[in-house]
Amino acid sequence: MSLLERLLALAWMMAMVAVMRVASHDYGDALSKSILFFEGQRSGKLPSTQRITWRKDSALNDGHQIGVDLVGGYYDAGDNVKFNFPMAFSTTMLAWSVTEFGKFMGPDQQRALEAIQWATDYFLKATSIPGFVFALVGDPYADHSCWERPEDMDTPRTPYAVSKTFPGSEVSGEIAAALAAASIVFRPKNLGYSARLLKRAKMIFDFADTYRGSYNVSLGQWVCPFYCDFSGYEDELVWGAAWLYRATKAPNYRNYVVDNAKHLSKILVRNIDGATYSGGSFAEFGWDAKHAGINVLVSQLLLRSNTTNLLDPFIPNADKFVCTVLPESPTLSVSYSPGGLLFKPGGSNMQHTTTLSFLLLVYSLYLNQANKLIYCGNVVANSSRLVEMARSQVDYILGSNPLNMSYMVGYGQKYPQRIHHRGSSLPSIDQIPEHIDCQGGSAYFNSDKPNPNLLIGAVVGGPDMEDSYADSRADFVHSEPTTYINAPLVGLLAYFRSHPSS
Ligand SMILES: *[C@@H]1O[C@H](CO)[C@@H](O)[C@H](O)[C@H]1NC(C)=O
Ligand SMILES: *[C@@H]1O[C@H](CO)[C@@H](O)[C@H](O)[C@H]1NC(C)=O
Ligand SMILES: *[C@@H]1O[C@H](CO)[C@@H](O)[C@H](O)[C@H]1NC(C)=O
Ligand SMILES: *[C@@H]1O[C@H](CO)[C@@H](O)[C@H](O)[C@H]1NC(C)=O
Repeated sequence: MSLLERLLALAWMMAMVAVMRVASHDYGDALSKSILFFEGQRSGKLPSTQRITWRKDSALNDGHQIGVDLVGGYYDAGDNVKFNFPMAFSTTMLAWSVTEFGKFMGPDQQRALEAIQWATDYFLKATSIPGFVFALVGDPYADHSCWERPEDMDTPRTPYAVSKTFPGSEVSGEIAAALAAASIVFRPKNLGYSARLLKRAKMIFDFADTYRGSYNVSLGQWVCPFYCDFSGYEDELVWGAAWLYRATKAPNYRNYVVDNAKHLSKILVRNIDGATYSGGSFAEFGWDAKHAGINVLVSQLLLRSNTTNLLDPFIPNADKFVCTVLPESPTLSVSYSPGGLLFKPGGSNMQHTTTLSFLLLVYSLYLNQANKLIYCGNVVANSSRLVEMARSQVDYILGSNPLNMSYMVGYGQKYPQRIHHRGSSLPSIDQIPEHIDCQGGSAYFNSDKPNPNLLIGAVVGGPDMEDSYADSRADFVHSEPTTYINAPLVGLLAYFRSHPSS
C-alpha cells in the first residue's frame, strides 16, 4: 500500500469507529432511566412500587393548613418547591412523548403512564375547587435558602392559587393542556380516568380563557423570578385549545386555535433572554413560550384531519422554526458548540436541546406524511435531515461529545457526580435517619465528594459553550436536573430505541 492508501484506510477506519461509537448508544437503557428519574422527583406518599428507594415520603401535609389536599406531584428540579407551571409543561411533554412515540417504548410505556399519572392525580387536586387553580406549593425563598432533604423539609409549605380576581391564564392554560394531552394517553387504558381528565381540562381552559391575566401580576414575587411568565399567557391559551382540539376534535377548539394564533403573531413579547420578538415568537419552545410547539402540533393535526388551509400560519411558521435550528440554514438563530450541542440563551441549556430536538423529530414525521420539504433560502431540508439533527443531540447527551461524557446520571461510564439536587447530595434517610436541618445540609453542599445517592436518569443543564463541564454542585446552571429537560427526551429516546440507526 502507498502512504496515501494507508492514510485513506486509516481515515476510513477512524470514520467507522466514529460510526460504531454513535451506533453503540443503548437508547432503550437511556429511555428506562429517563423515566425512572421522575420517581426521584416525586412528592407525597410513595407507593410500594417505588424503585428509587433512597427517596421516602415527603410533604404529606401540603394544602392541609387551608383544608385542601395538595399532596403529590413533582419537585421541579434540585429544590423542594412544587411549581405547577413548569410541572404542567413537563406533563404535557411526557404525554406528547407517549401519544407520538409510546408505541416504541415497549415495557417502559407503562412506566411513562405512571409518571404522567403522578402529575395528573395531583393536578386534579390542584384544580378541585371551582374558581381556583393552585399555582405552587412551598415558599420558594425559604426553600431556596436551605439545603434540606425533601423528607426533612421544615420551611413553610404555603399554597398559592390564582382565581377569578387574581387570574393566571398561563398556569391554568398549561394545566388544561397537560390534562387534555394526558386524557388522550389514558383513553385506550382507562376510559373513566381519561374522561375525568378531559372534563377537568375543559373546565380549567374555560377558567383560564374567561379570567385572563398573568400570574406574574397576581402572584408577583412568589413566581417571579423563579418561573416568571416572560412571554405572556396568550400562547398557553392557544396551546391548551390545541390539545383540547386534539383530544376532542371539536370544531370550537379548532376555531379558537386558528383565530387566536393570528393575534398571537401580533403580540410583541420579551423573552427570557431579554430579546423581544414579534411575529409570534415562532422560534421559541419551552415551559415559558409555546409558540413553536403550537405550530408543529397544529400542522400535524390539520394534516391528519385534512383541513390544512394554505392561509393558516402554522406550517410556514413551523418551517421557519426549523430554519432557525438547522446549522446549514441561512436563518440559523441558535448556536452550536464545537462539539455540536445546540445552545440558546436562557438558563439551563439542555432544556432547549431536548425540547427543540423533540419538535424536529415530531415535525420530521409530519414532513414524511405530507411528503414535504422545507426550504431555508437555498437550503433544502427533508424529513431524514431533521431526524439526523435530533439524533445528533441525543447522542451528544449520551456521550458522543468531546469529553466522552454522558449528561444522564447513571448512563454510560462517565456522568455527572455532583448534581445540584438536595435529595441526591444529602445522605439518605436510610443512612442518617436523624433530621438534618436547613443549615445542616451546607457541609454536604460544599463537599467535593460525589453525591451519595444516584438520581438515575437525571439529565443536567449540561456543558458550557466550549463543551466543558465543571461537575460542580454550586454551578446550578450546568449541574441541576429538571423535569422539563427529561420529559421531551423520553419521546426522543423511545423513537431512537426502535430506530437505532438511520
Ligand atoms: C412577567 O414578568 C417579567 C419580569 O418582571 C416581565 O418581563 C414580563 O413581561 C411579565 N410578563 C407578563 C405577561 O406580565
Ligand atoms: C385525507 O385525504 C386523503 C386524500 O384525499 C384521503 O386518502 C384520506 O383518507 C383523508 N383522511 C382523512 C382523515 O379524512
Ligand atoms: C435528505 O437530504 C439529505 C441531505 O441533507 C440527502 O443526503 C438525502 O439523500 C435526502 N433523503 C431523501 C430521502 O431524499
Ligand atoms: C474520547 O474518546 C475518543 C475515542 O475513544 C478518544 O480518542 C478521546 O481521547 C477521548 N477523549 C477524552 C477527553 O477522554
